Amino acid sequence: MCGIAGYVGSKNAVEVAYDQLKRLEYRGYDSAGIAMQTPDGIRVVKKAGTLNHLRAELDAHPLEASCAIGHSRWATHGGPTDANAHPHFDFDQTIAVLHNGIIENYLELRDELVAKGHTFRSQTDTEIAAHVIGLEYSQGGSLLEAVRRAVKRFRGAYALVIISNRESETIVAVRQASPLVVGLGEGENLLASDIPALLPYTREVIALEEGHLVELTRDRVRLVDADGRELPIVSKHIDWDVESAERGGYDHFMRKEIHEQPQVIRQCLAGRITPEDGVRLEGTFSDNVWAEIDRVNIIACGTAYHAGLMGKHLFEKLLRLPTDVYYASEFRYGDPVLSQKSLAIFVSQSGETADTLAALKLCKKNRIRTLGIVNVVGSSIARECDRTIATQAGPEISVASTKAYTAQVIVLSLLALHIAQVQETPGLRVEEWAQALRDLPELASQVLELEDEVISIAEKLVDMPLCFFLGRGADAYVGYEGALKLKEVAYIPTQESPAGEMKHGPLALVEEGVVSVFGATEPFTFDKVVSNMKEVQARAGTVLGITCDSTGTIAKAADLTLMFSPSRFDFLNALLSVIPMQLLAYHLARLRGCSIDQPRNLAKSVTVE
Ligand code: G6P
Repeated sequence: MCGIAGYVGSKNAVEVAYDQLKRLEYRGYDSAGIAMQTPDGIRVVKKAGTLNHLRAELDAHPLEASCAIGHSRWATHGGPTDANAHPHFDFDQTIAVLHNGIIENYLELRDELVAKGHTFRSQTDTEIAAHVIGLEYSQGGSLLEAVRRAVKRFRGAYALVIISNRESETIVAVRQASPLVVGLGEGENLLASDIPALLPYTREVIALEEGHLVELTRDRVRLVDADGRELPIVSKHIDWDVESAERGGYDHFMRKEIHEQPQVIRQCLAGRITPEDGVRLEGTFSDNVWAEIDRVNIIACGTAYHAGLMGKHLFEKLLRLPTDVYYASEFRYGDPVLSQKSLAIFVSQSGETADTLAALKLCKKNRIRTLGIVNVVGSSIARECDRTIATQAGPEISVASTKAYTAQVIVLSLLALHIAQVQETPGLRVEEWAQALRDLPELASQVLELEDEVISIAEKLVDMPLCFFLGRGADAYVGYEGALKLKEVAYIPTQESPAGEMKHGPLALVEEGVVSVFGATEPFTFDKVVSNMKEVQARAGTVLGITCDSTGTIAKAADLTLMFSPSRFDFLNALLSVIPMQLLAYHLARLRGCSIDQPRNLAKSVTVE
């Protein structure tokens, strides 16, 4: 999710790498660094904070090099400090390594290295990877060969970029489930995590495939597969302008971020579900603390609040742990009942929302245990909570939150499973859950394939005056999020409620033209949901069913249906059903000519009350 840069050629590589990082700045980051080859070996300059901090450091000791790599980091393992910033050296400073992604088995590898006497300067998984590659390289042979052998030991998602002081003007990189693109120039070659960082230099680009490695010198690019077989160089001409390149070729960040969700789920699970231990969440409370907690309060705003509702559903269903969800703005002034045995969970994408932060301070003042579920690791909420779990969704740029929601629900699910494991909850099917979570990215990709159907439905419904979002249990909670998306980006009034509440008032609003979106993913409620659909249709309302029901019960009752393949757990199906709702909001907004990434009156991060 972080930014990668690399250059070898006749220009000053330090300045090119810096310029490339500048072009990736829009993605967000919390530290940055550059490694360069100098006659005295590799020099690394890295700083926490913005690129201005790195600039000041570079200006203090100006250097020229023909080969350099650069990185802007979005903290995952370890806070945003100078030491944790990339690139990292191996044990004897022969190579410098930078990395996007997560090495899932880094703890195992670290134990092995510690047993061999290695010590580390940072808390990152990347430094472990650097030492493993360094050890392979010390056996002799080329850097490319050493990297190829070393990555066979890594589990997880990564794009790794390496330079060595034994091979001048050579950059080696490898990609596994984390993007990396190579730019072909005249007498110079480049690489980057994203195309915008290449465009000023070249438009001839190779997107590295899974498991492939690349070796760049100024005159040559070599591609090999995981077995070391040479691959042909096939480049693609990119004619995107810079703005559309920043959006990965999508028209809007919102759509890009919706489509990133399979990868975000993978990223969020990386290193947290293992075949040996089931669910493993680093850095939360110790087992005896979990045994003591008898109540949970989840506190958040907006989309994060809706993720909290999903957390409540699972905590109560799986753990029988009483859980309340509060709007942060209500919690802080609502004189909440706070018991010492309770846990307060703060969910936030930005980690800076003023109301959530104020609620956190209130809990801390009352000595309540606090846990953050936060996307921006160096943020105020992440720093102030007793413990924090990173959602790993990567920078979210669209004001309307999509991928952060999914990541928040995944983390809440992992947390529920973690507690259940610690408490040995009877009947818990951890292995089945772990497998279902592992299968989820693929299922999410399949749900995204519904996009053409969503577009044709959006075209039919574009003039609706009002949209209901209805469902039961977790489907109702997902409906709240679907309704929020529609309001935020398409400016269509919505009415969201549990389906059973319809006839206690909202039904009075149904008339011809009004649309009701029903999430239907829990088979034991299907009959009831169908009755609610009929109530709407009897008043000339249109029903859109979003379902994984393969029996046809829902499709038969609805006027329009979006159907996807189910996971084995209803809860995860409810989560999947948010994707068609996000797509529906997006395409309705597009058809209605709305400002999608920056909706009127709204802000991404609300730092005032
Ligand atoms: C704003 C954003 C929403 C977000 C909410 C909470 O309203 O527009 O997308 O859900 O704040 O933000 P947080 O960063 O705390 O998750």
